[in-house]
Amino acid sequence: MSKRRLFVTTALPYANGSFHIGHIMEYIQADIWVRFQRMRGHEVHFVGADDAHGAPIMLKAEAEQITPEQLVARVAAERPQYLDGFHISFDNWHSTHSPENTELSQDIYRKLQANGLITRKTIEQFFDPVKGMFLPDRYIKGECPRCGAKDQYGDSCEVCGAVYAPTELNRPYSTLSGAAPVMRQSEHFFFRLSDPRCVEYLRGWTQDGRLQPEVANKAREWLDGDQGLGDWDISRDAPYFGIPIPDAPGKYFYVWLDAPIGYLASLKNHFDKGQAAAQTSQTYEEFVSDPAVEQYHFIGKDIVYFHTLFWPATLHFSGRKAPDNVFVHGFITVSGEKMSKSRGTGISPLRYLEIGMNPEWLRYYIAAKLNARVEDIDFNPDDFVARVNSDLVGKYVNIASRASNFLSRLFDGELCDVHGLPAWQALGTAQHTDEIAACLEAREFGKAIRLAMEYADRINQHFDAEKPWELAKDPAARERLQQVCSICIAGFQALTVWLKPILPALAARVEAFLGAGPFGWADAGTPPARIGRYEHLLTRIDPKQIDALFDLQDSPAPAASTRHKGGSKSGSKGASADAQDTPAAQQAIGIDDFAKIDLRVARIVAARLVEGSTKLLELTLDCGEPAPRTVFSGIRSAYAPEQLVGRLTVMVANLAPRKMKFGVSEGMVLAASWEDPSRGEGIHLLEPHTGAEPGMRIS
Ligand code: MSP
Ligand code: ZN
Repeated sequence: MSKRRLFVTTALPYANGSFHIGHIMEYIQADIWVRFQRMRGHEVHFVGADDAHGAPIMLKAEAEQITPEQLVARVAAERPQYLDGFHISFDNWHSTHSPENTELSQDIYRKLQANGLITRKTIEQFFDPVKGMFLPDRYIKGECPRCGAKDQYGDSCEVCGAVYAPTELNRPYSTLSGAAPVMRQSEHFFFRLSDPRCVEYLRGWTQDGRLQPEVANKAREWLDGDQGLGDWDISRDAPYFGIPIPDAPGKYFYVWLDAPIGYLASLKNHFDKGQAAAQTSQTYEEFVSDPAVEQYHFIGKDIVYFHTLFWPATLHFSGRKAPDNVFVHGFITVSGEKMSKSRGTGISPLRYLEIGMNPEWLRYYIAAKLNARVEDIDFNPDDFVARVNSDLVGKYVNIASRASNFLSRLFDGELCDVHGLPAWQALGTAQHTDEIAACLEAREFGKAIRLAMEYADRINQHFDAEKPWELAKDPAARERLQQVCSICIAGFQALTVWLKPILPALAARVEAFLGAGPFGWADAGTPPARIGRYEHLLTRIDPKQIDALFDLQDSPAPAASTRHKGGSKSGSKGASADAQDTPAAQQAIGIDDFAKIDLRVARIVAARLVEGSTKLLELTLDCGEPAPRTVFSGIRSAYAPEQLVGRLTVMVANLAPRKMKFGVSEGMVLAASWEDPSRGEGIHLLEPHTGAEPGMRIS
């Protein structure tokens, strides 16, 4: 087997928020594949980076009154705890907002231009006259041209389902300023994908059998569709957080032009830092243009267009090597619920780690669900507990604890040679090793795990059939007892080698126990001569931890938002119990009691999602005091942060500060909702009539 040379990436996550379980799933998939390749002795350079550019990041930073660079740096600073926490073994992590990426992007652009593939066209687009910027579609709302529903986005109506262009909205407004947008012209730069050279090249690259069948089909639909490939708008006008287009003042590359180039930027940064030297003497330039190097990108199904059309064309027509393949995965849902970008999902990766859950449980479970197809997978809490506890611990780890007990007590840890034993030969370890390798190579991780667990079953059956606890009582059966237990440990080592890409930390503990390693792939067939002291290898999941993972206790008011929506076993606890238990207007109070409550008008100056909570928004409130206040409010199900910024509301200003998991909440905003959620689950923030100002007292 000759040594392969691999350049592997995952998609570059937007740098405007924390990782969610979808990101972690992608990293786990890629990491397993990469670790497998390393165990096979191949050369691997596995890199990632933050995707730092674009309008949403610019606007989010602005809402928080920080620079985009500060926002990106803050997000970058929290990456390692996730990546280390889940044992993701990137060789480098970089950013698209970097000198390397600027240089590479501008160079690639110049090459495309020299190749006659850049053209300019004047287009008409909505412009926000108050913000002084062109509006991406997502920041335009208005009335549905078909049913008249208010506050609909520019692409489709959530009420009647109509699909339309933003220009068709009635009474459009900018969600950034509320102003009515005006149509304005601007010159944009386009990558001429409609050029016959591009179409022909992409038909070849996408249809030559390299892609997953469903991905190739999608690409063919795009290539052969009615409109064929359109030219790709790659420029944006200032203000924009991005890379300046050379010789075009005020124009920036659209974020999706420079984002994949970030793969190369991170690789270059990795080489320039000298980190690649352990594996190769090549420079970055030599490596990346070497035909022997294989380049693979792990991505989700939502970004296939960018990676199978734009990206290969960008590389090829700038005189570079195109990727060898993209490996596309589906989405992860939690208890069948899709996670939305604004609401997040039922599992917070950080909370998972914080409450002490073992990252390898999740790696194992996700691996068990993954295959090479573009299929969604579901995280089901009960299934998760069952697979980890009964398969991973009950079948695999159990082998070591059962067998080592006898070997240590009666044979001083010594194993006998198992090779000539029929029971060992019947296990077919070598054949299993090859089959599992083929599965891991093909990203059929679920199948690899099934094969491994079948093998584990057979070892356990052998152990049970031989009844070592009885053999141990019979001095004449000593040799047999040692053979049975040696076979178990030899098989346990093989299992450990096969599972090591999935369970690297557990494998390291096993290596210590067997006094061997670090295991490479070939070690599946070389049983140890003795064992060390058996130390506890892996605990079972305590179902209480699942309750904690989905804990809903962190929400203060309002009542409706704390109710439980599937996924958890813990039911709804805590928050606003009194509001629920007390019938409206049950008990009269005097005016003095009411006067104790200091209600004030407040302006929401910033609003953001709270990592680790599916229900809370963090609000920054101007209530007429010198410093703004921070309030956590359980209104996330009803509002996206950007909907709230700039609006007035009512707050309780003299509520004792409340320490929460995410920080201190210095008050409470008022919202209306039904006591009886069967009448509707909506939450509606209170808003004073026009003219009210932050700090005004409500009485
Ligand atoms: N910034 C772009 C990618 C640029 S690549 C040059 C982007 N970022 S993202 O943060 O939205 O998504 C990053 C990756 O996470 C993508 O591959 C995406 O498909 C994946 N996932 C996002 N949600 C997911 C799930 N629910 N499940 C699995 N993967 C998901 O797109
Ligand atoms: Zn409508």
